[in-house]
Amino acid sequence: MKLIYEKSEPGRRASSLPRPDLPQAEVPEELRRARPPRLPELSEPELVRHFTALADRTFGVDTGFYPLGSCTMKHNPRVNERIVALPGFRDLHPHQEEDASQGALELMWRLQEILGEIVGLPAVSLQPAAGSQGELTGLLLMRAYFADRGEDGQRREIVIPDTAHGTNPASVTMAGYEVVGIKTDPRGNVDLDHLRGKVGPRTAGLMLTNPSTLGLFDEGIEEITRIFHDAGALMYYDGANLNAICGISRPGDFGFDIVHFNLHKTFSQPHGGGGPGGGPIAVRERLEPFLPVPAIVRDGEVFRLDYERPKSIGKVRGFCGPFGVFVRSYAYIRSFGPGLKEMSEVAVLNANYLLARLKDAYEVPFDRLCMHEFVLSGRGLKREHGVTTLDAAKRLMDYGFHPPTIYFPLIVPEALMIEPTETEPKETLDAFADAMLAIAREAAEEPELLKEAPHVRPIKRLDEVRAAKRPIVRYGFEEHEEPDAAGEPRQLEAQKGA
Ligand SMILES: Cc1ncc(COP(=O)(O)O)c(C=O)c1O
Repeated sequence: MKLIYEKSEPGRRASSLPRPDLPQAEVPEELRRARPPRLPELSEPELVRHFTALADRTFGVDTGFYPLGSCTMKHNPRVNERIVALPGFRDLHPHQEEDASQGALELMWRLQEILGEIVGLPAVSLQPAAGSQGELTGLLLMRAYFADRGEDGQRREIVIPDTAHGTNPASVTMAGYEVVGIKTDPRGNVDLDHLRGKVGPRTAGLMLTNPSTLGLFDEGIEEITRIFHDAGALMYYDGANLNAICGISRPGDFGFDIVHFNLHKTFSQPHGGGGPGGGPIAVRERLEPFLPVPAIVRDGEVFRLDYERPKSIGKVRGFCGPFGVFVRSYAYIRSFGPGLKEMSEVAVLNANYLLARLKDAYEVPFDRLCMHEFVLSGRGLKREHGVTTLDAAKRLMDYGFHPPTIYFPLIVPEALMIEPTETEPKETLDAFADAMLAIAREAAEEPELLKEAPHVRPIKRLDEVRAAKRPIVRYGFEEHEEPDAAGEPRQLEAQKGA
C-alpha cells in the first residue's frame, strides 16, 4: 500500500475554504517560511479511501478475539461512547469555573469513592494518565512520606519480583530508587525465603502485581505484607490485573498501602496503540496528605477543587486527569451496579476454561487454577519440532485471532500469556482453543507451515531486528524530491472542484 505522501498530487485539496478577508498578519521577514510545508495533497475521496484501507488492515477488539495477556482487551460498550459524547461532558472546557462544572466534578468525586471502595483504601487521586504514571506517582508519594519522617536518605530500595512488568523497574529508577529483585518459587509465588533476606532498614517498599503476570494469586500475600510492614516499609499494588478480583478481594484488605488502577483495562476503554488511558491511585490515610493537587472534594452538596494541601507532591498531569476516560469508566462500573463481582468471576471462569482446553497440548509451567489469565510455554514445540512461540503466534493470525502476549513473563521460556476477558462467549473461546490445538498438531506434522506464517495477512514477517534498530517513523522527505520543488512557491488556496 502506498504512503499518503506517495499518493499526493500538487494542488489537490480535500476542502474548499474561502479566501480570508482579514488583513495579512505582520510576520517579521526572518520568521516567514520560504515555502509552504510539505503536506500531502489529496482530494477527499482519496483521503477517505486511504484511511479506510488502513483501518481495514488493522486488527482490533471490534474485529476479533484479542487475548493479549495483562492488557485486558475487553469489549468497549457503545453506551459509554453515548454518555461521554453528551454535550455537557464533551464540550466542557477544562478552565470552566467550578459552579458551572458541578456535574463533571460530581462524576469524578463519585468515581473516586467507587474506586476507593473497590480496592479498600480511603483516598484517591484520578490524575495519573496511565498505569505507569500511577506507578511513578505512587513511588513519589513513598518518597514524600519517608522524607516527611526523615527516612528518605535511609530507605533507598524497592523490592520487585522477577515476574514484574517492565514499567515497574523503570518507574523505580525514575523515582530515584534502587531496584532489588526477588525470585519466584516453584508454585509461582514470591519466594519468601529469598524475600526475607532482601528486606531491611534500607527498604522503602514492595511493588507487586497480584494476581501476578503468571495469572496466579500469591498464596503468601499475608506473610509478604507482614515482612514489609514489620520493616516499616510500604506496599505498592500494581493494579494492571485488577480485572481478576473486583468485588472478590481488596488489595487494601491484604495490606497494600498504594494501588494504581488501569482504568483503560479493568473498566473498558478503547486503548492500545498509545490510546487514552487512566491510572488513578488509591492510598491509605497516612499517605493522603501527599496526593497530587487539586483534590476533588465534596462540601455538603457542592463539589470543588482543593489546592490547600501543603504536603502534596504537586501536579502529575494537566487539570484533573483524562476526563473522557473517567466518564467511560464510571458508565462501565455503574452499568454493573452492585454486580461488579460478576465481571471478575466470568473473566476468571473464561481463563480457566481455556486453560483446561489447552493444557494437554502446551506445557503449563505452574499447574494451578489461574485467575483472569494464564501462561503456557511453547518449549515442548520448540524442543520436539523446532517451532517457536513466535511461529505459533504468527500462525494464529491466519486463523483470524490476535496473538496473545508472547515471551513474557521473562521467567517462562517460550511464554504465551493468554487473557480472554469476561466479554467473550463460549463459542469464541472454543474457536480459539481449536485453533491453538490445530497449531500444536501442525507443528508436529507440517512445521514449515508455522515457520512461514502468517500466510493470509497483508504483511508477512517483519525484519524485527531492523525494525527495532532502525525504526522509520517519518517520511523520508530528503530522499523524495518535492514534485514542483524547482517552481514558484505554491499558493495554499483551495482548488475548486478538487
Ligand atoms: C502488569 C502491568 N503493570 C503495569 C503496566 C503499565 O500500564 P500502562 O500501560 O497503563 O502504563 C502494564 C501494562 O500493560 C502491565 O501489564
